[in-house]
Amino acid sequence: MSDIYTNAAEKFAALIRGQLERVERMKSEREFLDFGKLDKIVIGVCGGDGIGPFITAHAHRILEFLLENEVHSGKVEFKVIDGLTIENRAQAGKAIPDDVLAELKQCHVILKGPTTTPRAGDGWPNIESANVAMRKELDLFANVRPVKVAEEGIDWIFFRENTEGSYALGSQGIHVNDDIAIDFCVTTTGGSERIARAAFDYAKKNGKTRVTAVTKANVVKTTDGKFLNICQQVAKDYPGVELDDWYIDIMTAKLIDKKRRTQFQVLVLPNLYGDILTDEAAEFQGGVGTAGSANIGKRYAMFEAIHGSAPRMVEEGRADYADPCSIIRAAVLLLSHIGYQDKADMLERALDKCMYHERKLVLTGRDTGATGAQFADYIMETIKAEI
Ligand code: IPM
Ligand code: MG
Repeated sequence: MSDIYTNAAEKFAALIRGQLERVERMKSEREFLDFGKLDKIVIGVCGGDGIGPFITAHAHRILEFLLENEVHSGKVEFKVIDGLTIENRAQAGKAIPDDVLAELKQCHVILKGPTTTPRAGDGWPNIESANVAMRKELDLFANVRPVKVAEEGIDWIFFRENTEGSYALGSQGIHVNDDIAIDFCVTTTGGSERIARAAFDYAKKNGKTRVTAVTKANVVKTTDGKFLNICQQVAKDYPGVELDDWYIDIMTAKLIDKKRRTQFQVLVLPNLYGDILTDEAAEFQGGVGTAGSANIGKRYAMFEAIHGSAPRMVEEGRADYADPCSIIRAAVLLLSHIGYQDKADMLERALDKCMYHERKLVLTGRDTGATGAQFADYIMETIKAEI
């Protein structure tokens, strides 16, 4: 019996040590990288698994087209990284093999296709999700996900905390014995403060008047309570921006309340609630296939599609028909992050036109519709027509 206690207590102590070390690393964090001051911006392109390499190649092609002059002058360099596959990760027994991590760290920003996340019973070893690992390794603490449906008055931007909460120790829960399994949720002062500031800074810079914090602080009192409390502290530094707070259950309901939902602007929330609510939000815009996601840290940033790697499409020979729009949305966010806002706007306008307004080509995921390559060409033709 005492062995059970000792084992569990030792594991718990080791987890706390790891988190204390992480907090120290956070404290020594630098300022955000200033892209304007770099001689060269290195963009890593990482295809991932399943349909990932297919759709990522289209987004890469569009970025090369938009940044042609910058590549020519040496201001921008692309670096293709193709080792982040489930086969390599399983073989290395690591979420990100060491050589791939070293390559990622040579870039400033990364465009990443979806990667397969192993789960119990699927035959892959129980390694951590590559997404989650990359967010932690590169300390990409802000997961920024915009959702817009102009005709419905929806214009939301989610600031999902990306390195803590239920994800911090998601693959390190403790099986105490055959009867008890325990997972952990971690909230730190520094971790909450930096995501709250990111949300408020965004609001202030973009003329938004309200930030909404979403938690379950009435029940998950310690961690969510701390998160909410820190949002309230941070709000005091932003007098022009109001903070309101909602619980996650009623928030999921209010997103489908047509009158209420148009009032939300900037939302800030812990990791797991952010994961869930952003999928719901993306559905109003046409589904997770239409939304991009930015994972931003002080030194690195990674931009990805929200959807999964769809291995079945590859098995059925349909990968060429996979929809590249989510990863192209991620490319919009990347361009904006590295300082090319005009190009980001141009690409966003073309995407909206091709996906929603003109629709000369339609993607169906099979040979009844366009291929991803044809759709990417359509987007580039649309941009050329505008210039
Ligand atoms: C996302 C995804 C990931 C997450 C999965 C693939 C681990 O759902 O980016 O939202 O849960 O964060
Ligand atoms: Mg998700």
